[in-house]
Amino acid sequence: MDSNLKKIITECPKAELHYHIDCISPELFWKFSQRNGIELPIKTLRDAIDFYNFQTLDEFLTIMLTAISSIQTENDFSDMVMDCANDMVTQNIIYREVMFDYTACYGHRGVSLNTVINGFAEGLKLAKKRYENIDIRFIANLDRTASVIDNCNYINKLIKFREEIPLIAVGMDMQEIGHPAHKQADAFALAKEYGFKLTGHVGEVVGPEGIWDALQSIPLDRIDHGVRAVEDDELLKLLAEKQILLTLCPASNISLGVYSSWWEFPIKKLMNSKVKVCINSDDPPCFHYDLTGNLIKIAETFDLSTSEVIELIRNSFIFNFAGNEHLSNVDAWLDKNIAI
Ligand code: HPA
Ligand code: ZN
Repeated sequence: MDSNLKKIITECPKAELHYHIDCISPELFWKFSQRNGIELPIKTLRDAIDFYNFQTLDEFLTIMLTAISSIQTENDFSDMVMDCANDMVTQNIIYREVMFDYTACYGHRGVSLNTVINGFAEGLKLAKKRYENIDIRFIANLDRTASVIDNCNYINKLIKFREEIPLIAVGMDMQEIGHPAHKQADAFALAKEYGFKLTGHVGEVVGPEGIWDALQSIPLDRIDHGVRAVEDDELLKLLAEKQILLTLCPASNISLGVYSSWWEFPIKKLMNSKVKVCINSDDPPCFHYDLTGNLIKIAETFDLSTSEVIELIRNSFIFNFAGNEHLSNVDAWLDKNIAI
């Protein structure tokens, strides 16, 4: 690939808006299993690496939840934040919105919300001490397979933790098939009343009807994945008009069989339809491409121009939930390094 484009992708300050901190690396899975003395189907680090093997969203979620069951203590949650921060510095990511799903990943095994949030807060403190220029915010994902009443109760508990960590939005994840977004409309309405921004996983394994259902019942500020909007021109028009950003995750979609190759990923049609999109890694330990890797692969596969790559990078700053306070850093870098 063009070395100038590679330099932009690797060296330009970046933001990432769709990243699940719950999905730990095999190394952390191994470390937590050892440290917490839990019986798991792994005996070595090699086993932990080989364990991440799946074909479908259901298989992926089962494997991810098994690895997550090794996470128990505040110390573990703090290590997860530090791992995230180290990775940000390696990739020149200066801003990341980090999702966690308390209900699906921790609550059902008796890990308290206090433990999770205190651990995250401690990790943030340590990360800020080690690195000056990183900004991490949190998105609390609702488990869409839980009842809306349980999710409302969860949101009511969550708000008191807004002082402890920068909690900016409520999202939604887990199995989309059989769990349409509208069932969680009351929970999202409550989250909005509390002043949270709203986002949610739709249009990943379910087609455009899942996105229509979400938009008709929930005032979403962004959509996670949403890639299958590409199958419906009317929907593309609406998303473009309303400037609802899709946080695309190409490697994730290919790993989970939404598309069978990088060539099929519909980035060109989405961008040509004027829908706002940005690129993300979703769960990099499982999908093997980080943000930089996803951007490089997409730029290479579709022979993206410099301005298209810059648009993707800038969109993550323009549409983040903290306002565009970091955009000037990016533009300063581009002004200095790119002759346009
Ligand atoms: N889809 C649904 N739930 C998830 C995903 C995903 O891609 N990643 C982590 N939880
Ligand atoms: Zn996701």
